[in-house]
This record gives sequence, C-alpha cells and structure tokens, in this order.
Amino acid sequence: MSSKTYKKLIVKKFSKDFTSAAEIVEEKIPELASNEILIRNKFAGVNAGFDTLLCKGKIPYFTETPPIDLGVEAVGKVEAVGDKVTDFAVDDAVLTTQRGGGYREYQVIKSNLGFKVPEATPEVLSLMPTGVSALVALEQVGEMNSQEIVMVTAAAGGTGHIAVQLAKLAGNHVIGTCGSEAKSQLLQELGCDRVINYRLENVDDVLKQEYPNGVNLVFECVGKNIFDTCVDNLAVRGRLVVVGYISEYGKNLEQVYQERIYSKLLWKAASIRGFLMPMYKEYMLEARDRLLDLFYTGKIQVAVDPIEFKGIESVTSAVDYLLAGQNCGKVVVKF
Ligand SMILES: NC(=O)c1ccc[n+]([C@@H]2O[C@H](COP(=O)([O-])OP(=O)(O)OC[C@H]3O[C@@H](n4cnc5c(N)ncnc54)[C@H](OP(=O)(O)O)[C@@H]3O)[C@@H](O)[C@H]2O)c1
Repeated sequence: MSSKTYKKLIVKKFSKDFTSAAEIVEEKIPELASNEILIRNKFAGVNAGFDTLLCKGKIPYFTETPPIDLGVEAVGKVEAVGDKVTDFAVDDAVLTTQRGGGYREYQVIKSNLGFKVPEATPEVLSLMPTGVSALVALEQVGEMNSQEIVMVTAAAGGTGHIAVQLAKLAGNHVIGTCGSEAKSQLLQELGCDRVINYRLENVDDVLKQEYPNGVNLVFECVGKNIFDTCVDNLAVRGRLVVVGYISEYGKNLEQVYQERIYSKLLWKAASIRGFLMPMYKEYMLEARDRLLDLFYTGKIQVAVDPIEFKGIESVTSAVDYLLAGQNCGKVVVKF
C-alpha cells in the first residue's frame, strides 16, 4: 500500500481567488500507525465560501500559512486499519469532518476522528457539517420557536434547504428566497410556505405587503442588499442570524455609508447575531445524530445538486459553480 500515491488539493500561496491559489499535488499514501485508518474518499462537500476565503488568507481565526490542505467533509470507505483499531473494519462507510480532509483521494486519520455511517452517499455527507450548521444556527443562535415567521436566504442551497425543513418541522411559517424557477420548485416541494424568487419579485415589497409585522427569525446566508432588506423587515424582538455573506466572498467587501445599525435594532428590540460552526462544537454530535435520524425516518430530504463534478481536477469548477449561484442543493465532488 505504501508505494501507492494519491492526489490532493492544497493552497500553494494565498491569492486573489481559489483557482490561482490552489494546486494539485501527488503524495505517497503513508504507513498506518496502530490507531489510524486509511480512507478512500468517495465524495467531498464543497464549501466554496470557506474555501475561497481560506485561499485569500481572509479567515481571521485561521493562522496557518501555505501549503495548506483544502476541503473539509468527506465520506468514503475504510481501506485499511491499524493493528490496534477495533472500532472500524475494512469496507466500513465513514464520514470525516477534518479540515484538509476533503479534497483528496485518500486520507489517513486517527480512528476516533471518523464517524461510521450506514452508507457513503452524498446525502449523508450533506448532513454533516452542512445540515448540522443549519440546525445549530437556528436553535442555538436563532433561538428558534414554533408558530413564528422564519426567513431563509439562499434557501435552495446546501445549507438553506435543510434550514427550511427544520424550521417547518418546528412548526413555523417559512419564507425562502432563491434565484431560479428550478430552486422555487424544490422549495415548494420541501414545504416552504412562501418562496420568493428575487429575480422575479422584489423581496422588500413582498415582505412589507405580506408580512407587515415583520419576520421573527432570519437565517441569512447572502449579505449585501438582501441582508439590509432582512434587517429592515425584522419583527419586534426579531433575530437575524448571520450565517454567511456569500455575495461578497469573491470580491472586496462593499463599503457602505449609512446611519449606525443600532437605530434599526433598538426600537424593535431586535438583534443581529453571528454564527460560526467551529465556535459551537459542543452541539455537533447531538445535532448530527438527530439529523441522521430525521433523514433515515423520512422527515427531512437532502437535495444534492445534479451536476456531477468528478475527480480532484473538478474541484475548482465546483467552487466556481457554487459561487456563481447556479447550484440547487449541496454541491459535492465525486472521487
Ligand atoms: N457560519 C457557518 O459556520 C457556516 C456553515 C455553513 C455554511 N455557511 C454559509 O452558508 C451560506 C451557504 O453556503 P452553502 O455552502 O450551503 O452554499 P449554497 O447555499 O449551496 O450556495 C450558495 C447560494 O447562495 C445564493 N446566492 C445569492 N446571492 C449570491 C451571490 N451574489 N453570489 C453567489 N451566491 C449567491 C445562490 O442561490 P440563490 O441565487 O438561489 O439565492 C447560491 O446557490 C454561505 O454564506 C456559507 O458561507 C456558514
């Protein structure tokens, strides 16, 4: 096994975008230590926002310098186990969420860092950490209740479509924004009560006309004007969770000149709260188990984008595709 090589994607130098920063390298598969397992990755989740900011050196809490291994979550099959490993056997399906473990054909990890799953499918992969992020952000940061109005932006995306279903399951009225007819269709199938295709309707007009008392909880992924609109339409004691600002990841942050935000929040006792999954680690395992249960009992569906990205060479295209806003559901790369 040790003479065999595999390919992985690394950041070779911080640069202006993913394509110019990333490089494929080939390495030997290392010998296993006694507590390690060798995994052949089958699918990796694409987190184009995080990947791009990492390649730009723009993740404030991240201090490593290149070369840096890219990709995070992957699902695959165990190909070999160290001689002291008892929790995994060859051919087990395993999910991993190690930073650097995603965009590579093989990975070697300590066995206690892998999670055994029933099958190595892109659906299972989409639940962890993407689905987990949706659940923890809604519940822990957004303090999700029932019988409230919940709005999800980028609602047909990998994270958003899980958030929509969780908010519905909790007994809320759910508004979802998206940018295409196919995404509208998906959201309707998932039970979204009011789908707003922002290319056909003005989001602010819809909210003001149909939700004059405002939105109680916003799961906001997009940023820029949509963020402003969400802030303007918060209900009394409304909570806006900043999950991301994908509209700005590929660019320099827009400079805006306007009155300070407190004047928009104080008079409604509303709040804006940031969410970052690594800062809520203690909720991950319970959330993962609950989501897998919801999935395997048919209470939530996982939408995987139908475009097939195959092989390590396709990761760059997958990142571009997601950042162009074309995807419907979770984007994955197949190995
Ligand atoms: N804080 C955390 O820990 C955490 C964890 C996971 C994800 N996230 C964030 O959650 C968001 C969604 O991530 P994801 O990986 O699941 O992606 P995604 O939602 O599958 O894809 C991104 C979607 O954003 C929408 N979008 C709207 N305006 C856009 C614009 N100007 N440029 C590009 N896309 C635009 C597009 O859909 P429409 O055009 O249909 O709106 C696009 O399909 C990102 O902001 C990500 O950083 C954060």
